[in-house]
Amino acid sequence: MQIEKACFGNDAWSKSNMKSELVAPHTTYVVAEQGDEVIGYAGLSKLATSTSSDIQTIAVSDSHRGSGIGRALMQSLLEFAREQGAKDVLLEVREDKPTPQALYGSLGFVAIDRRENYYQPDGVAAIVMRLDLELGTSSAPIVLGIETSCDETGIGIVQGNKLLANVISSSMDQHARFGGVVPEIAARAHLEALDSVLTQALKDANISIYDVDAVAVTNGPGLAGALMVGVGAAKALAVALNKPIYAVNHLVAHVAVDILERGKLETPTVALLVSGGHTSLLLVRDILNDVELLGETVDDAAGEAFDKVARVLGLAYPGGPEIDKAAKQGDPKAIKFPRGLSLPKDMDQNRYNFSFSGLKTAVARHVERAELQGETISVPDVAASFREAVVDVLVTKAVNACLENNVPRLILGGGVVANARLREVAAARCEEAGIELRIPAFSLCTDNGAMIASLGAQMVMTGVKPNNLDFGVYSTIAF
Ligand code: KG4
Ligand code: ZN
Repeated sequence: MQIEKACFGNDAWSKSNMKSELVAPHTTYVVAEQGDEVIGYAGLSKLATSTSSDIQTIAVSDSHRGSGIGRALMQSLLEFAREQGAKDVLLEVREDKPTPQALYGSLGFVAIDRRENYYQPDGVAAIVMRLDLELGTSSAPIVLGIETSCDETGIGIVQGNKLLANVISSSMDQHARFGGVVPEIAARAHLEALDSVLTQALKDANISIYDVDAVAVTNGPGLAGALMVGVGAAKALAVALNKPIYAVNHLVAHVAVDILERGKLETPTVALLVSGGHTSLLLVRDILNDVELLGETVDDAAGEAFDKVARVLGLAYPGGPEIDKAAKQGDPKAIKFPRGLSLPKDMDQNRYNFSFSGLKTAVARHVERAELQGETISVPDVAASFREAVVDVLVTKAVNACLENNVPRLILGGGVVANARLREVAAARCEEAGIELRIPAFSLCTDNGAMIASLGAQMVMTGVKPNNLDFGVYSTIAF
């Protein structure tokens, strides 16, 4: 009653009013306590004959304002309203009280009406606000995905299998002068970008942060410092929103973009993931329970090889697009560069593994030798021959992985998928071998948050247990 009096003054309920409210069969009251002391309360009323719930009152003691208690009380009332089958929730708030209005707005309430002279004896108007409970609770969960494993800060939002938003901020330009991603710079850039990327993603999806049902985040593999920024942000969001959190494997998530494009993932499938950070061949029998790492690079990633060779050839960073461009005018057969781990002796231990460092050295030697002999090299020929060697190995091993495991489809992922020759050779050889080739839209091939959200949504929809908040990050992967 003390809190009631302090909060509502002249409008305060009497003790007997309060008592009849509490015992009425159609009301639900929640109380916030600290120790033995009541520090806040709120109540809801729902008549059996109505599909609407009404917020009856909410009050927080003076000394505990601004600490999130009002929000917590409201959230638990909304949960009760949902459980009781309400379709919407209504409340009135004093027109001269902007703070509670903002709180209700952030919970999804919108003003629908104004009642003149509602609060007496002050004669203050009431704003009537309404929350549509059916909006955010369509059967498919809304999942927010956060990706910060390398140099892309990505936040994606999906609802079930449907893509709602995919916003990316890249720190690539900041790494250009170093010729490769600098982990500390990447981590700092994530920190700086996250807030605005999140805001834009919510805007694109046309939802409030309170509509999010679960948070998913990449926790590996990737750069540890960069991963920690995303994981920290995801944990903070999950705690603040009181929603479950899912730690997601970055590589498997690359495959999950296919669900956003086709509604479901056809399995089994082989995935060839090629970017500046990874070169992996996965065999996916079940995206949540049965993913096998068939092979990966034992040294440089495919994109990294493009970047390093571009440097040797005096081309800009990132090297992939530059080499692709130069190669157009070149002869892919001009120089016979080595195909890493492709000899018969490699077929035992390294059948599906890749190696690009020998190829990179071979290009460097070729350029040095020409310089020593005073010859000028043909950059287009070197670029085309190098590109051919990379593409040949990637596609050969991927197609073999399909054929040898009886898998009729191949999905590509990662930034190197932009490579024109890779797409061409993969298409031709898959067709020849009767393998269906899936190349997702390029915005979904490069690192992004939508792929994380997509895999997270699969976890939510199949009832996978969420993670505890104590999970960490890992830079390399153990399947
Ligand atoms: O997936 P992604 O954007 O993210 C990181 O791994 O950071 O991949 C970037 C990589 C870079 O190494 C870049 O050189 C390579 O993808 N890349 C290409 C092409 N476009 C980008 N590699 C070959 N050909 C391309 N056209
Ligand atoms: Zn990736």
